[in-house]
Amino acid sequence: MTAASTGLSDEAAPPTDSASTLEETDMTIIDETAVDAAAAPARPAYRLVGVTKTYQQKGRVVQALTGVDVEIQTGEFVAIQGPTGGGKSTLLQLLGALDAPTSGHVQIGDADLDTASAQDLERLRAREIGFVFQAFNLIPTLTAAENVAMGLEPLGLDRLERDVRVAEALARVGLSERAEHRPGELSGGQQQRVAIARAIAKEPRVLLADEPTGNLDEQMRDEILSVLEQLNADGLTLVVVTHDSAVAKRARRRLRLDRGTLQDITT
Ligand SMILES: Nc1ncnc2c1ncn2[C@@H]1O[C@H](COP(=O)(O)OP(=O)(O)OP(=O)(O)O)[C@@H](O)[C@H]1O
Ligand SMILES: [Mg+2]
Repeated sequence: MTAASTGLSDEAAPPTDSASTLEETDMTIIDETAVDAAAAPARPAYRLVGVTKTYQQKGRVVQALTGVDVEIQTGEFVAIQGPTGGGKSTLLQLLGALDAPTSGHVQIGDADLDTASAQDLERLRAREIGFVFQAFNLIPTLTAAENVAMGLEPLGLDRLERDVRVAEALARVGLSERAEHRPGELSGGQQQRVAIARAIAKEPRVLLADEPTGNLDEQMRDEILSVLEQLNADGLTLVVVTHDSAVAKRARRRLRLDRGTLQDITT
């Protein structure tokens, strides 16, 4: 791991954030606890050990992942590159708890996919992991604000809190002024920002993005990149699959996935 990523993971809120924030701000009062908290290693956002994924299709076996070992620290910005068919989306599905590995272990924060109940997985997907895709997947008949609110449905918030979260999420992506616009009335970059707002409104720990700039021109790509960088600076762990070297260059850590094998290519 690089020095930069170590520094970041130290800064980022550990999983028990509310408690440790209290300890940090109140150090003189509960000095010993603060020391203990500082000594405890931050739990990684992800730990994958010997992960394989095999698909069977019409009697043909496809080995999408052939034995992936990787740890991603809280607060990191990781780019995953590699040729088409290399296994990038497959890996992202596992990181999103949307699928299980054929063998090996996937640990997401505190949860182990091997032992997690259906309820645990549901909670992970609904609250802790945000997803952004190449196709923005917005509902054309809903406004930006309504699209963002869709991401909050599983949380069952009351109307007031929901509206506050929606407004905050749109503000974070710089789209407060477009809250009442429908997707057809927004540029591609703006639509992708709505999709990012929808993903972050639930205040997830991790944002997973699969080719988030794949459908955008250069200027819109830079727009999205700035938004992602700001979210990461605020502590969100980012894992971005990308073919775009301009995006990958901005990540602090770069991984390459080729024929199911993962390699760290951070220079
Ligand atoms: N549901 C599936 N059933 C069968 N094979 C699959 C399935 N999903 C992916 N594969 C195969 O697994 C391999 C990895 O696919 P994956 O989608 O992860 O690649 P990728 O790196 O995301 O590619 P791209 O850059 O084109 O998006 C490919 O050979 C693909 O054909
Ligand atoms: Mg893919």
